[in-house]
Amino acid sequence: MIGISLDGRTALVTGSGRGIGQAIALQLAGAGASVVVNDLDEAAAKQTAELVSQAGGKAFALAGDVTAPGFPEQLAEAAVNNFGSLDIIVNNAGYTWDTVIQKTTDQQFQAMLDIHLVAPFRVLRAASGWIREKAKRETAEGRRVMRKVVNITSIAGTDGNAGQIGYSSGKAGIIGMTKTMAKEWGRYNVNVNAVGFGLIETRLIQPLTGQDASIEIKGNKIAVGVQPKVLENVKAICPLGRLGTPQEAASAVLFFCSPLSDYVTGEVLICGGGLHF
Ligand SMILES: NC(=O)c1ccc[n+]([C@@H]2O[C@H](COP(=O)([O-])OP(=O)(O)OC[C@H]3O[C@@H](n4cnc5c(N)ncnc54)[C@H](O)[C@@H]3O)[C@@H](O)[C@H]2O)c1
Repeated sequence: MIGISLDGRTALVTGSGRGIGQAIALQLAGAGASVVVNDLDEAAAKQTAELVSQAGGKAFALAGDVTAPGFPEQLAEAAVNNFGSLDIIVNNAGYTWDTVIQKTTDQQFQAMLDIHLVAPFRVLRAASGWIREKAKRETAEGRRVMRKVVNITSIAGTDGNAGQIGYSSGKAGIIGMTKTMAKEWGRYNVNVNAVGFGLIETRLIQPLTGQDASIEIKGNKIAVGVQPKVLENVKAICPLGRLGTPQEAASAVLFFCSPLSDYVTGEVLICGGGLHF
């Protein structure tokens, strides 16, 4: 068996207070990385950091809204100040705010671009100074140290999905960012890839029952979940016949965070049980 060691590496995972992000944080820490855990929800961020510690790993929780201007700089600084480096960035934070185009307000569409596109752009820009300087020094010393960016997308971005005009636009846009940054940062030995999910069992796609979880963004309470009928239809057309687990989703991300993907960049891996919309 090939063991994956991320000893001495520092990872930043946005939106890692629950769901897929939490599973990613736990798997990265389990492989030896120190993890900066971020979430809008402070209690959730602290809980993930606690779970990492309980499992014998190292984590630092920094709660906050990744779409707030200036906050991505704080995240990059938290990695360098607490753990001395920033080697792996997973742009995972996200949520859905679904409607057909004629019901979609400017604010709603913009919110989807802000979380799925503008925030990842700012996170990578915030990290760029440190990453470029470090890579230049390593190259001057004759060393090649690979760093990793994984942007999270969706089959709603690669295939399109009726009712998700804002979400699918943001998730398609992040693929363009991934391919561009792979070209800009290749010279700094950074692999930049994207993982797109089908349906993974998290709060985001829990069956809507009328008493649903919601996420509060800039004063707006947005219900998260999917109609139970849609979930049944998806299971019926998914080749593997079921939804994925957060751990299975995180495993696809771990590949792009590990040395196993050192010669892969600018690619999109779909982790969806074979499902396409
Ligand atoms: N679950 C799925 O089926 C699925 C499918 C395709 C893509 N995705 C994507 O995977 C990623 C993770 O989703 P999940 O299913 O784990 O959802 P989730 O709701 O379980 O977790 C997402 C986390 O992101 C956090 N978050 C949201 N906005 C934030 C912000 N502005 N700043 C900081 N944190 C913020 C939330 O508080 C939450 O804890 C998202 O980008 C989502 O779009 C999920």
